[in-house]
Amino acid sequence: MATPGDAAETAANVVQDLGVQLASNGFRFHHIGVIVRDLPQASETYGLLGFGPGHEEDVPSQGVRVLLLPTAQRGQYIELFAPTTEGSLTRYLEKRGEGVHHLAFAVDDIRAALEQLRENGVRLVDNAPRAGVHGWSVAFLHPASAHGVLIELVQPE
Ligand code: CO
Repeated sequence: MATPGDAAETAANVVQDLGVQLASNGFRFHHIGVIVRDLPQASETYGLLGFGPGHEEDVPSQGVRVLLLPTAQRGQYIELFAPTTEGSLTRYLEKRGEGVHHLAFAVDDIRAALEQLRENGVRLVDNAPRAGVHGWSVAFLHPASAHGVLIELVQPE
């Protein structure tokens, strides 16, 4: 436990303050992103696990085809995606293979959330939101600022 005035307590206070700010922006779990080589095959696998049917969509701006599978929790999904063009995601697949790729949190105001994070020293991949699946606004935070996890923010409609 932290004792008054020590570094752990100071860090805990900083985290708590940031947490309060972020919570006020409605941060909540939205989806887990899984990168796969073959979307129909992955769809079959997740079908065996009881997920599907879902919403399938090409997102040319990100060079992926996505299958968004609803879960029992409204507004929470499993996002399976396969690269459709050569680029950083095909290189990712070659190097690291299939698997969990990112976590996504929904926020009420993505621009405000990015601003808050930037002010608190969080490194961003995207300084401004771009269009994701369903026309949602999305932006990624750098894994170096999130303990090795790629985090996506989503502002659903
Ligand atoms: Co995603």
